[in-house]
Amino acid sequence: MAEKIKVLLSEEEVDAKIKEIGQQISKDYEGRQVHLVCVLKGGSFFMCELAKRITVPVSLDFMSVSSYGSDTKSSGVVRIVKDLDEPLKDRDVIVIEDIVDSGHTLSYLLEMLKNREPASLKLCTLLDKPERRVADVHVDYTGFQIPDEFVVGYGLDYDQKYRNLPYIGVVEFE
Ligand code: IMP
Ligand code: MG
Repeated sequence: MAEKIKVLLSEEEVDAKIKEIGQQISKDYEGRQVHLVCVLKGGSFFMCELAKRITVPVSLDFMSVSSYGSDTKSSGVVRIVKDLDEPLKDRDVIVIEDIVDSGHTLSYLLEMLKNREPASLKLCTLLDKPERRVADVHVDYTGFQIPDEFVVGYGLDYDQKYRNLPYIGVVEFE
């Protein structure tokens, strides 16, 4: 099936917002060090850009999870495909996600990371689709709230495509 991508948030809008979040995090964590945990693969573009905008010391780690279910719907059962390299104990951790949709992935993940006893644990997402929320997830930093549409770009994929778009677009099926 052919698809077209309609721009929802331009590269300039996304970059400006990431800069803003970076400034906010730098302020909130003044005098401390932040440990960013990227949820692969979608969160990677966002995390790299965000990390560049944070002025307090930053360390990075990556994990990859997979939710059982179809590509466009998650089931709430999450499997760790790649775990973090380092422990979280006593660190100020911010989980970096591309999008919070049903919230299933994040509510599971945050619960699991909490058990590793970080000094603090926050969630930062580039996009949020509040209409779709099923699981209760508290988001500390949100880039944009968007309507219930399937989006790609800036790390987000449709069938593994379009992650490299420098903007956020809506997929339109022809
Ligand atoms: P949740 O568990 O339903 O919150 O799903 C989160 C994951 O589903 C995200 O990390 C994305 O990988 C994927 N996802 C949800 N909505 C979209 C979308 O609009 N475009 C691309 N991926 C999405
Ligand atoms: Mg994701």
